[in-house]
Parts: sequence; C-alpha cells; structure tokens
Amino acid sequence: MKHALITIGCTREYIDPVRYISNESSGRQGIALIKSLLKFNYKVICLHGYLQTKQIVSKNVKFIFTPTADEMLREAKKYKSIDLGIFNAAVSDYKAKKYNKLKIKKKNGLSLKLTNNPDILRSMSFGKYKPKVTVGFAYETNDVFKNAKKKLLSKNCDYLVLNFPTAEDKIFNSKYNNGILIGRSGDFLNLGNVTKTIFANKIVKYISNRKN
Ligand code: CTP
Repeated sequence: MKHALITIGCTREYIDPVRYISNESSGRQGIALIKSLLKFNYKVICLHGYLQTKQIVSKNVKFIFTPTADEMLREAKKYKSIDLGIFNAAVSDYKAKKYNKLKIKKKNGLSLKLTNNPDILRSMSFGKYKPKVTVGFAYETNDVFKNAKKKLLSKNCDYLVLNFPTAEDKIFNSKYNNGILIGRSGDFLNLGNVTKTIFANKIVKYISNRKN
C-alpha cells in the first residue's frame, strides 16, 4: 500500500482570543481528494485546518487537526517515506507579530504588525522531507498560467493544480472546481469545470498512472 500525506482546509492565526486571519477554503476539494486516494489504494495522513465539510471514516485515513501554519509544518515533518504529498490547504501567509492575550478593545482604526508564516509546501519539497511526488495547488485570479508555472518551480513541485474562478463561480465552498494540472516535465491535463469529485479523480488517476 502506498502512503499519501495531504493538507486540507484553512489555517487560522489568532490576533486576540476572538479575532483571526484566515483564508477561504471549505475543505470540500480536499475531502474529495482523500476519497480518490482511498480508491487508488493509498493509506492517507490528513493534516487539516478548519473545515466546513464532513470528514470520512476509514481505517486507512488518519485526520490530524493542525489549526496554524506552524503546527501543520511541525506535524508534516514527522512523516518520512511518503509516496505522494498533496498540499491543498489554504495556509495563512501571515500571522500577528504579537498575539494579544486580552481582547483588543474597539478604537478609531487599528494597525496590525504581521510576520510571515512558513510555507509548508516549500519547506517539505526541498530537502530531506520531500515526498517522492509533490503536488501543489494554486488559486489564481490573473496571469493564471504565468503565476502557476512560477509557483511550480519556486515550490519544487512535480505537479501543480492551477484552479481559477469562472464568470459564475468563485469555486470556494462550491460543488464545482475549474482548472488544469501542470506537470514539471511540461505535460498538462485539462481538468475542466467539473464537480470536485471528478476533479479529484482526474488528478489522482493521472498522477498514479505516471511513472514518477
Ligand atoms: N502553501 C503552503 N504554505 C503556505 C502557503 C501556501 O503550503 N504558507 C501551499 C498551498 O497549500 C498550495 C501552494 O502552496 O499548495 C500555493 O498556495 P498559494 O496560496 O497559491 O501560494 P502563495 O505562495 O501564498 O502565493 P500567493 O498568495 O502570492 O499567490
């Protein structure tokens, strides 16, 4: 049985006990990917942030809640000899420089100092933690191909799933996704504007059938 590591959902970075910085992501695409991985006989470790969708019960999936980028990365580094790493989580790129233990009282305007979070995909895909095959995701709104190709190389991915909104659908928390799978060797697969289940099946099938 092959081993997959997948990150899904969105992370949160709290500013004070009630407020946080986060990203859009329901986790629906991530859960669909896990179902496909199971169909293709993978044993799955899922590191997840916040989800707006139900998890799956299976003896072949282990869900681990990693609410922040730092926790997600710390947990990811525990797994070696991973065959396939899929980095689908919407990780907050920033966190508050200083967490306020007490609720910040409302005043006239507020400036926040933010610092960068680690990039989980980048940290994992260079060096000793690299899964045999790494797949990144990129949601792009402009210069979609240019940005995606840049990300594929800068994050050392074997494949990158470019997804982008259609005129009618921003994709977030939708039943549908829309995009293209781009391979490092110049190959690509048009995934189309299809349900997240079909989208996931096309990705996992294509990657599993390739000699990597
Ligand atoms: N990613 C990650 N850790 C981060 C940011 C992103 O692991 N701190 C991963 C995502 O899971 C995804 C890929 O990197 O697989 C691209 O994420 P995206 O948010 O599009 O990339 P950014 O590097 O944040 O680029 P930008 O926001 O400038 O488009």
